[in-house]
Amino acid sequence: MSNSIQMPSSLYIHIPFCATKCYYCAFNTYSFHKEQAKTYLDALQTEMQLYASRTAPLQTIFIGGGTPSILSANALGQLFTDIQKHFQICPDSEITVECNPGTVDGEKLSVMKNAGINRLSFGLQAMQDETLHQLGRIHNVEEFLHSYHLAREYDFDNINIDLIFALPKQTMEAWQHTLSETISLEPEHISAYNLVMEESTPFYDWWKAGKLVLPAEDIEADMFQYTIETLTSYGYTHYEICNFARPNREVRHNLVYWNNEEYIGLGVGACGYVDGVRYANIRGISSYIEALCQHKKPISETERLTGHAEKAETLMLSLRKREGICLADYEQRFGEKLEVAFGDTIQKWMDLELLEQNGTHFRFTRRGLFLANEVFVELM
Ligand SMILES: C[S@@+](CC[C@H](N)C(=O)[O-])C[C@H]1O[C@@H](n2cnc3c(N)ncnc32)[C@H](O)[C@@H]1O
Ligand code: SF4
Repeated sequence: MSNSIQMPSSLYIHIPFCATKCYYCAFNTYSFHKEQAKTYLDALQTEMQLYASRTAPLQTIFIGGGTPSILSANALGQLFTDIQKHFQICPDSEITVECNPGTVDGEKLSVMKNAGINRLSFGLQAMQDETLHQLGRIHNVEEFLHSYHLAREYDFDNINIDLIFALPKQTMEAWQHTLSETISLEPEHISAYNLVMEESTPFYDWWKAGKLVLPAEDIEADMFQYTIETLTSYGYTHYEICNFARPNREVRHNLVYWNNEEYIGLGVGACGYVDGVRYANIRGISSYIEALCQHKKPISETERLTGHAEKAETLMLSLRKREGICLADYEQRFGEKLEVAFGDTIQKWMDLELLEQNGTHFRFTRRGLFLANEVFVELM
């Protein structure tokens, strides 16, 4: 049976500002202007009010972007005060802030630490200055290292580093260098994404115009394979397609998404899942602010997930996890065995050696993991 009667205990907050836009990125972001950021945070506070009674005490909070760390220390302090005012937060909650190297300093880290932020996520992407420049990043390797070590000085003991592989012109050696230098920093968590060519980005346009050369698919597959083997040999658990964690450092917030559980999403363009309904907020910042000035929820789309759609989403999201989908959990949630709705699909994927049964779970094989996005198309 659906567990949607429980109130969500996870909160995502979108801070849409960045110094400049990276050439590959399609996230909903705007260039940073201090005044607009102030108005935005006021609107966000109103949105918090509208949801305050809709959550259980929060177990996880994820402040993502965009670049939350681009806000001033004062603005960050205000944001955390607002969250604490409107929501109850469990004492052992996980609270993450996404940071872009070069945008943190001692004052901001101190504000975050005092506000109870206990996890930071740095977007590094690559360990070569030239590559960072080609990606349109605002920082070089040295600035990243400075931000990372400063965070350690402020006692942040749960840090993620985001990396991207299969970048234009990237060689296997360059990716190996990025990985080994990252491992030497001993972060608790590493996210290693393969580059996705998103429409409406400069990278996409250059690629279509033949100006960007991407590594061949077999090299990309080798990079993925190498990533899994290397990180697991250094004690990182490969627990989701792109995510690796030291023991007990899996990101609890994202596990809520992958378990298809409910959460509140606040901010421009943010998505949420409440009372069995998925919603997406307005993507334009002026319209978002305007809706909240009128004390209206800034929702632009809703979809009630029921029946087959909810089952398919649960299967897709769970298969992203390395452990795969727990058959008992699925049966408890939907009151029927997984094979009832997906027997034929499962058999087909097993015949193609994309899926395997591991006692209590169905999970992707290594090949299935690499092809996951193409495989999922069948369920949509
Ligand atoms: C929402 S971004 C925010 C992180 C932060 N703003 C930064 O860039 O430092 C989270 C991560 O998504 C990844 N990402 C963004 N666009 C991507 C793309 N087109 N392909 C693969 N990974 C991407 C990057 O690794 C990035 O660090
Ligand atoms: S990757 Fe991060 S810094 Fe770059 S545009 Fe996207 S959200 Fe902003």
